Amino acid sequence: MDNAANRVASDNASTLESLTEFLYLVPVGIVRCDGDGRIQQMNPMAVQLLLPLCKEPQLDIFGWLDRFDPNGRAAIEAYDGECGLVRPNTRVAVRPPSEDGLPEVLSLTITKVSATHFMLIVSDDSELARKDRLLQQKHRDLEATLRELGETQTQLLHAQKMEAVGQLAAGVAHEINTPLQYIGDNLSFLNKASTNFLALVDALENCDKATLADTLTETLRKRKIPFLRKRVPRAAEQAIEGIDTVSAIVSAMKEFAQPGIADKQPTDLNRLIEVTSTVSRHEWKDVAELVLELDEHIPEVLTQVGEINQVLLSLVVNAAHAIGEAAQERGTITMSSRTHEDHVEVAVRDDGCGIPEEIRARVFDPFFTTKPVGSGSGQGLAIARSIVVDKHGGTLDFESQIDVGTTFRMRLPRAAT
Ligand SMILES: Nc1ncnc2c1ncn2[C@@H]1O[C@H](COP(=O)(O)OP(=O)(O)OP(=O)(O)O)[C@@H](O)[C@H]1O
Ligand SMILES: [Mg+2]
Repeated sequence: MDNAANRVASDNASTLESLTEFLYLVPVGIVRCDGDGRIQQMNPMAVQLLLPLCKEPQLDIFGWLDRFDPNGRAAIEAYDGECGLVRPNTRVAVRPPSEDGLPEVLSLTITKVSATHFMLIVSDDSELARKDRLLQQKHRDLEATLRELGETQTQLLHAQKMEAVGQLAAGVAHEINTPLQYIGDNLSFLNKASTNFLALVDALENCDKATLADTLTETLRKRKIPFLRKRVPRAAEQAIEGIDTVSAIVSAMKEFAQPGIADKQPTDLNRLIEVTSTVSRHEWKDVAELVLELDEHIPEVLTQVGEINQVLLSLVVNAAHAIGEAAQERGTITMSSRTHEDHVEVAVRDDGCGIPEEIRARVFDPFFTTKPVGSGSGQGLAIARSIVVDKHGGTLDFESQIDVGTTFRMRLPRAAT
């Protein structure tokens, strides 16, 4: 051999040596099979991975696959790829029976190397499978935590609503008490008046015709009939007004609490504003006037009425507290509604103390409050935001100026969400 041939031979020998070394060290099993699945050559890793799973000395890869994975042979036989190409669908995961020391999952990838031979690459995916299982378990745990969190949030929402309704009920009882008192006073006045009118009728019926004029004059005076005549219509009117006030408060309270209606329904937001302003009267009447500026043409939007009532109540109560904290005597709360192209807006404006710059970023945080224990728990705005944003796809934000006031704006999409 000349020098050049020697060099080529020595290069080939060293390439072969490197290749053999590679086949020995590579951490995947490499198996060469004939077209019938008979194993012809395998590297040490393949021996390590496959032999413990195979009792027979003659290895037939198809027979072997059949034992562990009925779909494995079909996947390999269906392989019609070109030589040297690996297709993703030629990858088969084999799960041997679980025994100590045996791999849990083997991945086989088939590559056609000639018309009559193919090559299998076998890797131990047990670690991957273990990580996958762990990940799936974490995923399930996370889902369970999220579910629990959702349930807790619903319970919190319900508890806050119950607390608000309970507090309102006390205020409403107070509000109903005043009209009830004057209904009672007017009814006893009317009762007395009717006794006097009936006494007049009796006197006239029973008197002697000759003394009729005297009896009439005497009884009119004695029974204070001219005075009663003047007062009776007003007393009756006042009693009726009182009954109207009471029934308006009671029906507003009934609408506000909305027991049992959990689904979203087409809602007239103006009505919700009116209802909230009525039931919350006791909360604001000592510190503020409440003005409504309602857009008469506001379209109905889909809402869960009880929840939106809860939001409006939180905003009105906060506005009343802010005015109570401000230095001025009495303030004004304005509740307004407006229609925009793709959303409707309800704003609650107050001329109270304003929100200091340094706490603006935190007012929506759960349990953030600047109020003394017993007068605020810091849940109002957090729950309001969750109702408006998460449950209705809307927005809730505010603008505020110290000693000038604050406006909270709730925007709800007009399209159903
Ligand atoms: N209109 C407002 N004017 C000034 N400060 C406000 C206004 N609304 C909210 N805040 C501030 O934001 C804080 C958080 O309000 P939020 O309604 O969440 O809780 P809270 O009113 O303190 O308690 P809760 O509503 O649970 O009874 C309030 O403590 C207050 O400092
Ligand atoms: Mg509040």
